[in-house]
Amino acid sequence: MKPARIIDVILNGRPRVDAVPDNLLLLDYLREVVGLTGTKTGCDGGECGACTVLVDDQPRLSCLTLAAAVNGRRVDTVEGLGTDGRLSAVQRGFHEKLGSQCGYCTPGFIMASAGLLRRNPHPSADDIRAALGSNICRCTGYVKIIEAVQYAAELNAGGLAP
Ligand code: FES
Ligand code: FES
Repeated sequence: MKPARIIDVILNGRPRVDAVPDNLLLLDYLREVVGLTGTKTGCDGGECGACTVLVDDQPRLSCLTLAAAVNGRRVDTVEGLGTDGRLSAVQRGFHEKLGSQCGYCTPGFIMASAGLLRRNPHPSADDIRAALGSNICRCTGYVKIIEAVQYAAELNAGGLAP
């Protein structure tokens, strides 16, 4: 039998407890154990940012993080954004400012951007570029993504959660 441990996490605002193998990646925990497939597998090696989630509001690459390492922490994925069927500020930004094309990278960009706005609600363009520096997009050319986050910051200032 594979070694397992109990993890106790607040996932998208709700507590849950699971028994997981010691070597299970957070990415595989989210997608295969919990069934939240919004978090994407891209390079599977820490290079692309598609797997970005927030752990205690800090962006983390879930392909390089063990599920056991988030025991006792808050984990947020793209499924946890938005309330009552309304898009969050960052989701609306990407949608309305065309920050997404094929969409594969988008959950990672959205989570990195949401983490930025939680830490810094009024980021400069350079702050946004720095916060998204670990995320790769093959489609958009990044200009629309920066505009999407700037618009999301405006929406956030108006009271819409990131
Ligand atoms: S899948 Fe994690 S960084 Fe690419
Ligand atoms: S929208 Fe296609 S990789 Fe970013």
